[in-house]
Amino acid sequence: MFIPDRIWVKINGEYAPIDRAAQPEPWLSYVYSNRSIVTQFDDGHTKWPQVGTLPTSSASMPSVVAAMLSYSGLDTGQDVCEVGTGTGYNAALTASLVGNLGHVSTIEVDPELAEAARERLDNLAYDNVRTVLGDGAHGDPDAAPFDRIIVTAGVQLGRVPYAWIEQTRRGGKILAPVRTDLTSGPLVLWTVDEDGRAVGKAMPMGVGFMELRAQRTPTTTDTDLAAWLDNPGDESTTDLDAKDMLSNPHSRWALAVAMPSCRYDLDHDDDGENVWWLRDPMSGSWARIASGAVHQSGPRRLWDEAEAAYAWWLGAGEPSVVDWTWTITPTRQSVTLNS
Ligand SMILES: C[S@@+](CC[C@H](N)C(=O)[O-])C[C@H]1O[C@@H](n2cnc3c(N)ncnc32)[C@H](O)[C@@H]1O
Repeated sequence: MFIPDRIWVKINGEYAPIDRAAQPEPWLSYVYSNRSIVTQFDDGHTKWPQVGTLPTSSASMPSVVAAMLSYSGLDTGQDVCEVGTGTGYNAALTASLVGNLGHVSTIEVDPELAEAARERLDNLAYDNVRTVLGDGAHGDPDAAPFDRIIVTAGVQLGRVPYAWIEQTRRGGKILAPVRTDLTSGPLVLWTVDEDGRAVGKAMPMGVGFMELRAQRTPTTTDTDLAAWLDNPGDESTTDLDAKDMLSNPHSRWALAVAMPSCRYDLDHDDDGENVWWLRDPMSGSWARIASGAVHQSGPRRLWDEAEAAYAWWLGAGEPSVVDWTWTITPTRQSVTLNS
């Protein structure tokens, strides 16, 4: 009822278009599987069955939807704001959980998606849902205050809109997937206090959400990569394995905090050996690490930064993502390791 007839699903690492009319059984089995179903590419500029570059809307994995609803602690009669309507499915589940005494405002930035979701919700008589077309970063001031704000798009570390705290009742909660350029997730649950401060903890679940539209950061282009491959940069060696730092979500989170705007990629050389890339498109810095050989270039020495952050993380006793606290005040956002 909420999933469009034409979708894209990832099969063996590649997106494939699936049409309900042409492939009714595969469509049904994908829709009922624990996977995310892509419903839009490239803000709608790429039309089905073309496969685009950037998935920009999806119905999230059912296990993630269920966990987020459970972490939110929803109850009958609550007022809830959802940022990122998408298909409208999560708004419908939320509306059922808060019941007729509660109310859901769901905000979608994309006009076509918002209209389609509004139609679905209206047809199914979800009278306690208000579908708003707009930038969810502003919340829904006309329907505030809320007991809960549930964000189903990724928010960059340090860029949680303060409007969300202003529109949450004291003691209310905000749940949002936080991301950095180096890592997606964690899922953070904040409680808003009397002083207009929100203090958050990570939930024990890694998630990967598409970014809020206005918070997307540039990716590396093939031209960047070609230029970097031609440039040996400064050469050195290392005994550390980039895999140990970057494959573990807990050490990767420590690196993410220490290395703003840094991204990573895993590539393979002609012999199938891992080639790790660290890159900061903002400063044009990069590092390439393969079989203990390090090449770095640009104003930042990204591998040196990564080694220092990793040494700090090991020295701090290898803290997990749930050992950090996210604090938001009207003037400041911080993430600190619990002492
Ligand atoms: C993962 S999907 C949400 C899934 C949705 N909750 C559902 O049940 O289908 C993320 C959605 O957030 C929307 N989005 C991105 N930036 C937004 C913004 N600034 N305000 C509102 N919606 C936004 C995207 O267009 C996309 O539809």
